Amino acid sequence: MRNIKGVVFDLYGTLYDVHSVAEQCEALVPGRGAEISALWRQKQLEYTWLRSLMNRYRPFEAITADALLHVCKRLSLPLVDSQRAELCDAYLQLKPFSDTAPTLRQLSALGLPIAILSNGSVHSISEVVQHSGLEAHFTHLISVERVQVFKPHGSAYELGVDILGARREDLLFVSSNAWDASGAKDFGYNVAWVNRGGTAFDELGVRPDFEISSLIEVPRFAAAQ
Ligand code: 2OP
Repeated sequence: MRNIKGVVFDLYGTLYDVHSVAEQCEALVPGRGAEISALWRQKQLEYTWLRSLMNRYRPFEAITADALLHVCKRLSLPLVDSQRAELCDAYLQLKPFSDTAPTLRQLSALGLPIAILSNGSVHSISEVVQHSGLEAHFTHLISVERVQVFKPHGSAYELGVDILGARREDLLFVSSNAWDASGAKDFGYNVAWVNRGGTAFDELGVRPDFEISSLIEVPRFAAAQ
């Protein structure tokens, strides 16, 4: 691979486990934590895509709250406002995956810029990162809030290039979300797809440059210069 001048990570599902909220869901609705968490994430993603198509941007934490409201109605869960607020707060305290910190440490040692480029709002990203104590590893925390449209829109990926001041072909974009890896590849980044779930890649006419099973493999791409 050509010289990599920076690494850009997706946040939700890639560095941080969205399903760490299943624990709080389970505490509120015993026996249904995993189901609620999965539906919630799916609806949250759908709302970002639909709102981008409708040109009706709304910050990620508001969309997260809307998605949870929908799930509660759909599953007839009698959660009161304070319980829903508690679950939304949990989304600001997601746990990093076990491979996140060691990978960031190795990349930091290489001295490359390390960014997050996320659909999360500025507030959501900084809360999650600070809560995990990993903020020192990131040179840039980039939110699509600046362009008010969500990934996989090209304007969202453009932010990484603009803010890191590097060409797209000199950056490595890392995501575990196949739709995001597709969007980043379509935009022109080098892309590593972290296939955490051992699933099939999306059929959107583009392929990632690398398919890996853990973030631990990322530093070797960045180091291979
Ligand atoms: C992100 O962090 C939503 O996973 C997506 O941008």
